[in-house]
Amino acid sequence: MDKTSGAPVAGAVRGLGRLWQRKSVDQVQAEYASSELKRSLGAVNLVLLGIGCIIGAGIFVRTGTAAALHAGPAVILSFVIAGLICAFAGLCYAELASALPVSGSAYTYAYTTLGEFVAWMMGALLVLEYGLAASVVAAGWAGYVVSFLHDFNIVIPPELTAATGKEIILADGGTGTALFNLPAAAIVIALASLLVLGISESATVNNIIVAIKVSVILAFIVVGAFHVNPANWTPFIPEPTGEPGEFGWGGVLRAATIVFFAYIGFEAISTAGQEARNPKRDLPIGIIGSLVICTVLYMATSAVLTGVVPYAQLDSPAPVADAVNAFGAGWAWLGTAIKIGAIAGLTSVILVLMYGQTRIFYTMARDGLLPGVLSRVHPTLKTPWINTLVVAVLVAVAAGLFDINTLGDLTSIGTLAAFAIVCISVIWLRQTRPDLPRGFKTPLYPITPILGILSCLFLIFQVEPRVQLFFLVFLVGAVAVYFVYSLHHSKLGKGVIVSGHEPSPDEILAPPPH
Ligand code: ALA
Repeated sequence: MDKTSGAPVAGAVRGLGRLWQRKSVDQVQAEYASSELKRSLGAVNLVLLGIGCIIGAGIFVRTGTAAALHAGPAVILSFVIAGLICAFAGLCYAELASALPVSGSAYTYAYTTLGEFVAWMMGALLVLEYGLAASVVAAGWAGYVVSFLHDFNIVIPPELTAATGKEIILADGGTGTALFNLPAAAIVIALASLLVLGISESATVNNIIVAIKVSVILAFIVVGAFHVNPANWTPFIPEPTGEPGEFGWGGVLRAATIVFFAYIGFEAISTAGQEARNPKRDLPIGIIGSLVICTVLYMATSAVLTGVVPYAQLDSPAPVADAVNAFGAGWAWLGTAIKIGAIAGLTSVILVLMYGQTRIFYTMARDGLLPGVLSRVHPTLKTPWINTLVVAVLVAVAAGLFDINTLGDLTSIGTLAAFAIVCISVIWLRQTRPDLPRGFKTPLYPITPILGILSCLFLIFQVEPRVQLFFLVFLVGAVAVYFVYSLHHSKLGKGVIVSGHEPSPDEILAPPPH
């Protein structure tokens, strides 16, 4: 046989081998040992950090849609289902974060365990979990701002307050179609400007915003409890319409995929593992504690929401504030307070999500998987400014053009897939590196990660089929970009980096070496 005829095959096999190349776990751990980050966060701070990232458009906006179109009052059960799935994934996140205490994200965990190709796909999923989620929260923010301004007779033309093509009610009472969601795009650009200037949220600001968010939600629950009409809770699970995902148990599960969005953000706790005083004890308390608190708040909020207003009327851009109208004219001030609380809370979630997205792109660009320009740091501002501008334009355009429901469902499906990979990574690392010191171990191993994987996959199949198709197209696109660009530019592949050196945000902001 001609000796050369095997060369392309051998090359292809070698190429395939590169897909699984990994960053070194030991190097990552050594970096932790020498980490200079202060280990100052206790359990309470971690819980607050989690709540700060979690409570946002999920509860303030998407619950209304989930109840009105899919689950009715049983959206309360959807929150329990989604919260449980997040708890499985959260425990797995905590173990990875304690074994691979890099600042960074699931992208780095995947690079260190399952290899470069899975890491790349994880990076793509994180675009949905962070970037797209930021668009959803921005659209939710716009709903509350429009409603708030309306209270003061400031009216933004309706054509400029909803996604392109969405049917709207015009000022004269007629109907029309929207051109662009301008306030949603504007808040994204404004917050991106802060990020370019190097302003991100401090722990104190986070704690203040958490206090505001939780206070307005508690006020809604307590006052609302006195205005509930129990008749609105019957039927608790409305009869299925026959359309998949519309009421009945199918609807409860479909609603779980929607309100799953409300939990996204708790992983931020695991990535703060480096700064935890006692990760073994405090990480699980932070993750499970914030999930439990949010689940209780969410269940109570949705119980009041569906008890005060017939569920079919809840599909509105600001359902929680609208429900206050049902309390009577004397409570108008509470409606205004809720709008202010929601606007403040959603603003901070957009900021945190966009910050996360820019740092993920930054890390991927440093690894060579994305163009290097995305890791360029501004000489005086010390921020990855080009990267931030690119993220801002993408997030603003998505927030302005696309429907919040489609964007939100895509975020949910992408995050579910990311969580499943995190659960797989835990099993992989236990099998291959049982010796590795772990500050925290997932309880009931291997049941917890296996339940995590299965439940995430199960919920992925409950998402609206149209969104599943978008997701598939997105994944195919991501695979194509990897083979066309990233595989050939990977620094690990070229031998330029041999370990998992993960720059911390502090390092990004540090002056460049001379
Ligand atoms: N969980 C966050 C929210 O609901 C992303 O806005």
